[in-house]
Amino acid sequence: MTLSIVILAAGQGTRMRSARPKVLQTLAGRPLMQHVIDSSKAVGADDICVVYGFGGDAVKTAFAGEKLRWALQEKQLGTGHAVMQAMPGTPDDHRVLILFGDVPLIRPETLQRVIDACKGDDVAVLTVEMDDPFGYGRIVRENGNVVRNVEEKDASDEERRIREINTGVQCLPAARLKAWLARLGNNNSQGEYYLTDVLGMAAGDGVTVHGIRAESQVEVMGINDRKQLAEAERALQARLVEELMAQGVGFADPARVDIRGKLKCGRDVFIDVNAIFEGDVTLGDNVRIESNNLLRNCRIGDGTVVHPNCHIEGATTGTQCEIGPFSRLRPGAELAANVKVGNFVEIKKSTVADGSKVNHLTYIGDAAIGKNVNIGAGTITCNYDGANKYRTVIGDNAFIGSGVELVAPVEVGEGAVIGAGSTISKDAPADQLTLERSRQVTVAGWKKPAKKSH
Ligand code: UD1
Ligand code: CA
Repeated sequence: MTLSIVILAAGQGTRMRSARPKVLQTLAGRPLMQHVIDSSKAVGADDICVVYGFGGDAVKTAFAGEKLRWALQEKQLGTGHAVMQAMPGTPDDHRVLILFGDVPLIRPETLQRVIDACKGDDVAVLTVEMDDPFGYGRIVRENGNVVRNVEEKDASDEERRIREINTGVQCLPAARLKAWLARLGNNNSQGEYYLTDVLGMAAGDGVTVHGIRAESQVEVMGINDRKQLAEAERALQARLVEELMAQGVGFADPARVDIRGKLKCGRDVFIDVNAIFEGDVTLGDNVRIESNNLLRNCRIGDGTVVHPNCHIEGATTGTQCEIGPFSRLRPGAELAANVKVGNFVEIKKSTVADGSKVNHLTYIGDAAIGKNVNIGAGTITCNYDGANKYRTVIGDNAFIGSGVELVAPVEVGEGAVIGAGSTISKDAPADQLTLERSRQVTVAGWKKPAKKSH
């Protein structure tokens, strides 16, 4: 049956103490609700409707790239009232799965169990056993099935001892759901339209309500404050690292790595502590990422070692390269095989061909560097005249001495040697020594300045 997913996201989330709407707080580098949207897509939702309220425009803008239906809940009159806002536009013959924008860790497998239990007229609700169920709605069962939910504030002492709670996630046939929502009242201790009352109505109408138990509390945790956000972050990171370890990736310490995007790894990759991966990162076979590295949207070739303290973004390396310590590869840095980039070297929008070395204190920007080139310490490509950028081209086997400025546009021929300290603003021919220096003088009779006495 066709599946509509309704995501409740109208709450303000005051406990975050943030100017940002709660569902836009980030978890593993993505907004909380992005995780919910991704899980919704993973279970094949045909229609996703977000019920929004607080911070509406910011929320809409943040998800402009997604195909979503938006339903405004102007006043937060309760979870049942929130679902009502999504019903116009939801076809009667759909099943409706209700999710929450601030419950981001639910796995698609778990959602699928709930969806599968909602067959025919049946209703399914996701529950979980809590050590401390305080504050949650309690699930009342009879003969195995759910007969109703009772909120903490409306529960008797006996009901409060029930440890199985309502996660809020539930799946129901749309036509029946609409009829039950129309019957909701707000005559309860909070004066709210409780979505949870629907469960009792369904059971009262003779509908089977399946209580599907989630495997862990963590999976269904709602995020209300910064502490819970940090807990969820750790839980999600642990899950991501576990998946990678199962695929054969080695970690020095699974608790000291952060994956904020998609990390794809080959065989026998090793990742040391404090590595941060953002966006799409691909590591080839036998790659070694040493400590304190940030890698964002980049591809690292087989056998390459990234030594400590590098910042790599939008770059690619070939096989068997050595990067760092303290290197910065910026967008468009494309290194071929066996390239060495050493400490305090910045490379931007440049290609470096096989076997070349840029080992110390250097800026390479808008350049094409050939094979087996050696770039001496302190070399700078002067690529910018304050208005435009220009290219530097260096041929195979060239040798650039230390402290050279290459004033672009400029070309250094194959096998050329540039003397140390030169400022090269004209093309340097192949296989010859080119240098540009003023003659060294020693000034006879020069005296050191002395301090004036007053
Ligand atoms: C709700 C359930 C409770 C369950 C708990 C799980 C009801 C009445 N109670 O309680 O049984 O154990 O979730 O966390 O449903 N929201 C709106 N519009 C509203 C009200 C809420 O969009 O008018 C959204 C909030 O943004 C939030 C979610 O619904 O994401 C839950 O609302 P909240 O008021 O926190 O429900 P609880 O009292 O925690
Ligand atoms: Ca409430």
